[in-house]
Amino acid sequence: MNENLISNLFNNKNSGIPVWFLRQAGRHIPEYYEIRKKEKDFVNFCLNESVIIESTKLPLKYYDLDAAIIFSDILMIPWAMRRNLKFLKNFGPTLDPMIPGETRIIKNISISSELVPLKNSIISLRKDLPKSITLIGFAGAPWTLACYMVEGQGSKDFIKTRKALWSDNKWFMELLNTLIFYVSEKLEMQAKAGADVLMIFDSWSHMIPNNFFKSCAIDPISQIVKILRSRKIFVPIIGFPFKAGSSIVKYSYESDVDCIALDWSVDLSWAKKVINKDLVIQGNLDPASLIPKDSKYLQTNVLSILDKMSDRRLIFNVGHGLTPDCKIENVKKVIEIVKNYKR
Ligand code: CP3
Repeated sequence: MNENLISNLFNNKNSGIPVWFLRQAGRHIPEYYEIRKKEKDFVNFCLNESVIIESTKLPLKYYDLDAAIIFSDILMIPWAMRRNLKFLKNFGPTLDPMIPGETRIIKNISISSELVPLKNSIISLRKDLPKSITLIGFAGAPWTLACYMVEGQGSKDFIKTRKALWSDNKWFMELLNTLIFYVSEKLEMQAKAGADVLMIFDSWSHMIPNNFFKSCAIDPISQIVKILRSRKIFVPIIGFPFKAGSSIVKYSYESDVDCIALDWSVDLSWAKKVINKDLVIQGNLDPASLIPKDSKYLQTNVLSILDKMSDRRLIFNVGHGLTPDCKIENVKKVIEIVKNYKR
């Protein structure tokens, strides 16, 4: 089969259901650790063309997937903005925290010059990969990037970021507006290099107070889509408002994305009734269901998603990234079920 299922889906052509996995290229595949050893520091790893290529292709060696997501990290924009990004072992990312109202927001960075290895790896992957495999480029959403930049690290409630919204709103919106510009530039560069689809991760959209959801989660995405379209980038765009609850309804109508990725908490029977019917849906298997060995429920879970979505355009995926302890056998089983499913 040489058809590109994802491109068929976006072109309304009837073919099989495509499948790929968020964080498919990472730590659940033991071989990743061998590649990872080639660079001590994770930022340098994301700036090394040959390991980006190797990691992006790694899951394709194991699985019959319809897409490869380029290996990088959403935090490479804050890195390019000189926020002193570091990934600490057993802790996660740290950055120099921005002080709301005080820290100067740097506006004249050329993201495409800072991330040349990302661009080059996409150019070479697009030449190398079969046409049936969709190459996905990505970026973090402005809100999620701002969360890490203000907090200086991950957080369970992003209280400093939420406080900045109320106390230093003008500064905060200036940060978001700058990030809109950088995210657009990063996505444009990836599409021009050969990415067939772009995905925007808003991993912390559930930290946005409801009255700010439009200005912090929806408007920035629709502005990014507009900027890209005005620069003649017409590839499909997937938005991922992680755990945004009922706000996904408004997001589906007003963010201008072509596909909405749904997290594992979303009830698909409800979602398909209330969200914009023009959108492709991606999701939403719980990645934790891929951890137990010989899981009794896996087949039922996968079939339940496929049955509920049988009258909609679906890209089968997990509802958040695969965890390091997820089992290769389970991933293979899921792909087999999806590929054998008859609508
Ligand atoms: O396989 C893929 O999906 C491609 C690569 C990819 C990575 N990060 C590699 C990575 C993608 C798409 C991301 C996106 C990303 N990065 C998100 C959005 C998706 C989500 O999970 O909500 C976020 C929030 C980040 C920020 C980030 N990067 C954190 C919080 C961490 C540390 C926590 C963790 O999972 O380890 C990272 C590090 C990171 N990014 C790793 C990988 C493979 C692990 C680093 C290592 O190998 O040591």
